[in-house]
Amino acid sequence: MAKIVLLPGDGIGCEILWETIKVLEAVGALEGLDWHWETADIGGIAIDKHGAPLPKATLAACQDADGVLLGAVGGPKWDGLPGEERPEAGLLAIRRGLELFANLRPAKVLGPLENASSLKIEVVRGVDILVVRELTGGLYFGRPRFREQLLDGGQRAVDTLEYSTREVERIAQVAFQAARERRQKVTSVDKANVLESSRLWRETVMDVAKEFPDVELEHMFVDNCAMQLVRNPRQFDVILTTNMFGDILSDEAAMLTGSLGMLPSASLGGKVGLYEPVHGSAPDIAGKGVANPLAAILSGAMLLRYSLGHARAATRVETAVELVLAQGYRTRDLMQPGACLVGTTTMGELVVEAIFGGGEYGQD
Ligand code: IPM
Ligand code: MG
Repeated sequence: MAKIVLLPGDGIGCEILWETIKVLEAVGALEGLDWHWETADIGGIAIDKHGAPLPKATLAACQDADGVLLGAVGGPKWDGLPGEERPEAGLLAIRRGLELFANLRPAKVLGPLENASSLKIEVVRGVDILVVRELTGGLYFGRPRFREQLLDGGQRAVDTLEYSTREVERIAQVAFQAARERRQKVTSVDKANVLESSRLWRETVMDVAKEFPDVELEHMFVDNCAMQLVRNPRQFDVILTTNMFGDILSDEAAMLTGSLGMLPSASLGGKVGLYEPVHGSAPDIAGKGVANPLAAILSGAMLLRYSLGHARAATRVETAVELVLAQGYRTRDLMQPGACLVGTTTMGELVVEAIFGGGEYGQD
């Protein structure tokens, strides 16, 4: 029995997780996997109901689970709140609370979607990148962090960018391991021409690389990487980078695939893994039944692979998603001329049908 904590959060979170459950139930039925679902609050809804973006009970439930599936957090309703009280603070707190220092964000251009990108087909065809983003350090968590009043009437705000050798070592190890299973290349992205923390990052990555002589290592400055991602993205296999750079570059990599609505992620490193789509809560389309559930569904596949060790079930889900896209079904964010427009629920059901090979729903 796999005990999974669901954290729908805000906006479209609920709708997309619901479809993910349907898909995981379906694949579980085929693979003999039993699920136990529990729901807890995070983000804006947690602020409204419990007065905190990450209630203690939510963290405790997650610590006790086999895996956590998260929808998205945030929305205009909570935008006026100070930093530490915002919904996003709940996300940062759970990453820290579960010690999830390794964020894996695969950006793979699927055959049926190669013409959905805003870039030319020749540029994106065959792109298969894994962004390995450090997730519990760097600019997001460095101290001191404050704001102060200045005598000139203005203010001063400070964030701190810091990394320790140990923090860099462990994320670099994840990246090299992942590269071993892929095309044996790591591009470490930093700003070592300017930042001291990047110089330590680069030295440490070079040390770790010695343990992986079979993996090729290259270094790239972040500005160049942002440019190379749209110029020639096929040169990349694994991109290893800091929390802040990874946040930015993973959104950019996502767009190579056609839509931010396609990108899953896994956050690992602690006892329990957390899986979430890379896209946000999309408050503008929440409750309308038009959100793309595929990133959440693919995050469910990552949960199967990394937390439950069930690679075959994960592949079943991924293959089903590709099949549905090949059949020409698209949610609004992916819509192309000649394709068949479907909503959130139908997209989920189509993936379920594809998992059952069409039989279960009496398709012929
Ligand atoms: C992401 C998001 C978060 C981040 C926000 C919502 C705090 O952009 O997961 O990429 O910056 O990490
Ligand atoms: Mg982001």
